[in-house]
Amino acid sequence: MDIIVDPTHELMSQSAARIIADAIRAKPNLSLLIATGNTPIECYRQLSAIVTSEHIDTSRLVAVQLDEYVSPENNSNAPSLFDWMQRELLQPLVIDSGNVVRFEMGQSMPRATVDVYDTKVGSIGGIDLAILGLGPNGHLGFNEPPSAPDAPTRLVDLTPESLISNQPYWDDSQIVPSQAFTAGMTTILGARKILLLVSGAHKNTVLRHAITGPVSDLLPASQLQSVSGNVTILADNAAWGDIERR
Ligand code: F6R
Repeated sequence: MDIIVDPTHELMSQSAARIIADAIRAKPNLSLLIATGNTPIECYRQLSAIVTSEHIDTSRLVAVQLDEYVSPENNSNAPSLFDWMQRELLQPLVIDSGNVVRFEMGQSMPRATVDVYDTKVGSIGGIDLAILGLGPNGHLGFNEPPSAPDAPTRLVDLTPESLISNQPYWDDSQIVPSQAFTAGMTTILGARKILLLVSGAHKNTVLRHAITGPVSDLLPASQLQSVSGNVTILADNAAWGDIERR
């Protein structure tokens, strides 16, 4: 596991953006698994600035959605992680809609949404680079505890912790739904490279357990230890605290 600890969230975001930009330059048809949430927003802004200033070609970049809420279809004000990803990354990087893999809602059965997603991820050859955040309960994507390393893409019930941590993303009229689709642990752990971005003192304990504690389905992020050769942790000082480097 590579570990990069930067003094601030902003510097951590810069380090992450540089890694992603270099990966896109090295492989213009890179497939990128994209977390939403608060942690990566600054990284996405910096990535967009680097892409513009260094004229990096994003015309063949493939963006893959990591997770999405399931909201009633007739609610036009429903919170949407796709809208978030579009605003924060797809539009700034000018990613062609034909190069986006998302959870397609409106299928009659959740199974169909999952199958379409998995087929598309398979057809692009899986994930080159996964950008992940760390849930306060140790989730990756919405692989809520307990999630086994072979947990597939699926519809999940969000835990109370995730409902609480996600609600501040939205205004009071937008209630976080109780269910979501998530890329499975198989897709995440199968990524050729994984960046885990962790910011803020409130993540220190869960980060410590994830990287120094036992590997357990009860803390899905701990399973990154099993694919540690592919993992880079990017943390700021507040999140890292006094975790011992091994
Ligand atoms: C979001 C996602 C989640 C978040 C995690 C951390 O697409 O998959 O796993 O990455 O909950 O969220 P923040 O960054 O808001 O602390």
